[in-house]
Amino acid sequence: MQTKLLRPSEEPAAIEEAGALLRAGEVVGIPTETVYGLAADALNPQAVKRIFEAKGRPQDNPLIVHIADLSMVREIATEFPPEAQKLADAFWPGPLTIILPKQDKIPMVTSGGLNTVGIRFPVHPMAQAIIRAAGVPLAAPSANISGRPSTTTAQHVMEDLHGKIAAVVDGGPCSVGVESTVVSLCGERPRLLRPGGISLEQLQSVLGEVDVDRALKEKIDDSEKVSAPGMKYRHYAPKAPVTVVFGTPEASAQYIAQRLGQHTGVLCFDDCAQLFCGKAVVETFGPSDDEAQQAREVFDALRRFDDTDCTEIFAQCPPSRGIGLAVANRIKKAAGFHVIDLTEEQA
Ligand code: TXA
Ligand code: MG
Repeated sequence: MQTKLLRPSEEPAAIEEAGALLRAGEVVGIPTETVYGLAADALNPQAVKRIFEAKGRPQDNPLIVHIADLSMVREIATEFPPEAQKLADAFWPGPLTIILPKQDKIPMVTSGGLNTVGIRFPVHPMAQAIIRAAGVPLAAPSANISGRPSTTTAQHVMEDLHGKIAAVVDGGPCSVGVESTVVSLCGERPRLLRPGGISLEQLQSVLGEVDVDRALKEKIDDSEKVSAPGMKYRHYAPKAPVTVVFGTPEASAQYIAQRLGQHTGVLCFDDCAQLFCGKAVVETFGPSDDEAQQAREVFDALRRFDDTDCTEIFAQCPPSRGIGLAVANRIKKAAGFHVIDLTEEQA
């Protein structure tokens, strides 16, 4: 299959073409504000199966269903509790996914066999236009081969999925850069299942107390039952093994500088790069004091290591506040939670 690159900025009919492909049960890579999505008609089990095949995704990992209008919620979820309304008022459209009990109309293949469904209303105008052109809610996981870093440009999507899907819509680089925050409203209390573009502090400002899923903090065994099945898989990983060095930028840079070999990769803040230049394979992901920029760059930087000959990677990591919690989570997951915590060693 030839994968067509569609450019709505040059060709307005591109959105209509993407919509027609989606209605016909094809899989299309689409831009959103977080990362690129691998979209198909969420109500068509055959189309959704194609997403799993293209990505090589485990069948028990549910997909997020994307809407372009609040009224679409009614055909997807059986209820929309007051907490959901509050979250929607504050953060939709935007990088937040809300888990609710699902309607029978949503096929089990979409929800990974669960009775719940993740719903997201993206703010990216092209994502909204494509959903409207398709006329149906779109199931879309991140548009990467399962286990690889998520994609934040149409070129990344082509790298991973060329020949496996009908088309990719080029909407330029993603403005948030890490995936949506996933919050479940199916238990007694709201629970954060995945940190993302909306921070935990923002959720708390609307909901009060929010439980934080244990999968955010530690490695979960493959056989264990977890709230967000996606959290148990090794993820976002370059080919070389990653070690996270957690601490102040100065302390982590110093620790890494003492351990450089010829084939060592270093994922570091812009302002620490000069320490490693010429001595290691260096990829930067933004200034140490700008977590929003780190979010935009982290997946691209992780991907770049695969074009190098490094055999091990040390990574710096931001503190777990604001969107830094999401950035730190992605880097720790890329490392399989192999973390050297310098703050603990000092204590
Ligand atoms: O920003 C995003 O959320 C992107 C864009 C394309 O919208 N999508 C995305 O999808 O990141 P994906 O499939 O790569 O990640 C979805 C995460 C997984 O960890 C999955 O297990 C969890 O959300 N999830 C989805 N539906 C769920 C459900 N019903 N219950 C619990 N977790 C769910
Ligand atoms: Mg993903």
